[in-house]
Amino acid sequence: MTQKQPNLIRRIWVSVFPYPLLTQTEGGGKRFLLRNLILHFRPTSVPEQTMKLTLSWGLGGMALVLVSLQIVTGVLLKFVYEPVPTHAYLSIIRMQQDVLFGQFIRNVHFWCANFLVIVLFLHTLRVFFTGAFHAPRQMTWVLGLGLFILVLASNFTGYLLPWDQLAYWATTISIGMLEYIPGIGHWLENTIRGGPEMGPATLRIFFAIHTAVLPFVIVMLMAFHFWRIRKAGGLVIPTSPGEESEEHPLRQPTVPNLLLREAVVALVVIAFVFMFSVSFDASMGEPANPGFSPNPTKAPWYFAGIQEMLLHLDPSFAVFVVPVMIFLALLFMPYVNYGTLTRGVWFFSENGRRTAAVAAVVGAALMPLIIVLDEWVIDFAAWMPGLPVVVSNGVLPTLLALAAILVFYGVMKRRFDLTREEGIQTVFVFLVVSFLVLTITCIWFRGQGMGLMWPWQVP
Ligand code: HEM
Repeated sequence: MTQKQPNLIRRIWVSVFPYPLLTQTEGGGKRFLLRNLILHFRPTSVPEQTMKLTLSWGLGGMALVLVSLQIVTGVLLKFVYEPVPTHAYLSIIRMQQDVLFGQFIRNVHFWCANFLVIVLFLHTLRVFFTGAFHAPRQMTWVLGLGLFILVLASNFTGYLLPWDQLAYWATTISIGMLEYIPGIGHWLENTIRGGPEMGPATLRIFFAIHTAVLPFVIVMLMAFHFWRIRKAGGLVIPTSPGEESEEHPLRQPTVPNLLLREAVVALVVIAFVFMFSVSFDASMGEPANPGFSPNPTKAPWYFAGIQEMLLHLDPSFAVFVVPVMIFLALLFMPYVNYGTLTRGVWFFSENGRRTAAVAAVVGAALMPLIIVLDEWVIDFAAWMPGLPVVVSNGVLPTLLALAAILVFYGVMKRRFDLTREEGIQTVFVFLVVSFLVLTITCIWFRGQGMGLMWPWQVP
């Protein structure tokens, strides 16, 4: 009888981790030391269907790799960086010029931070579009949202540390936005800034939050996130409506089948980040000059959508009411009663795929139109001078937008005979695309005095 050949994955595994990782156990059987360690954290096997790259695109794993790179490079940066306004800028210049691999390490840290926001955004989309937030994964979703906010906070606090013009003024603008949070705005603004003006206290506070508080909380929350994924039985298994999920799905061993796939994703991410960091340097402008603000002064790109909203809505609505409404909707989305559930199937169905595309086109066409009209035509405050500005520029446009979304939902539901989850998906797509349009407009179409102009006219 011919002996069965080990499969390709096992052959690669054995060639990468050969004999030194084998040891004898008391029973005389061979065991992999490394494998035992890994299996303390991972299940011994995973459902075969969840290993398909097209289900998760490895985005959660990519986020983990990026966070890990952030922590390693962040610790290295701490050896050189000095968190005082008189030294911060020069310490980074010195690191870039005199320290071995200093520029490269800063670049990796900088690019990972930016890529992490993009990867998390895509990870959130994939979780949403595959319905992976439904029971029993509600808590995983909620923890994920928390992680997203902490990562944004981490980016924001890190942005100030170089203490160059861009960092100084973008942070000034962003902290200034907090003023519009009703009730606690002024207090929050002064607390985060460490006083009424940007200065040494601001840098000290940002440095402490960025290098101690946030990394600790993010790592804790990530551990919680991973534990919840495991408690839910791993990733979502594709199940169509009316179909019962299989009680005993076909499984494959974690080591080496899943581990090798994860290693490939991790190596690709690391190679990409390293190549990018060798090719493009992290930004570093002129030293901060509190007496001279650049025109236009823009918030970091991930807050650009909110800065654009500030140009159209009353500040308390742009900075507080609308973002909080969206956040609460996302938070409670897994707890809505959806009737029938589809899980693990991208866009839920063929109908869902088609209507998501329609919603994307409507959002991409309508939002620029609204921006242009609001810039030159619509002026509720002038049309209704008797109303307080917060009503004419806040309550009124927000109610109109909500009504438009409801009408859109109703029309799409009737026209395409949508299920509730497909309907919620069309609204979600519409909102995401609209927010992307706002972000792009602020980054590339806003120039001097934040006026609307073509990208080539923007300084
Ligand atoms: C630092 C941030 C994060 C890390 C490191 C992380 C990591 C991961 C990993 C490794 C997985 C399993 C593999 C995969 O789905 O790609 C996963 C799954 C999941 N994540 Fe995240 N994630 C983060 C943020 C988020 C965010 C922002 C959300 C959504 C708001 C989220 C929601 C979920 C959910 C619901 C699952 C389960 C998916 C399923 O069962 O198919 N995560 N995450």
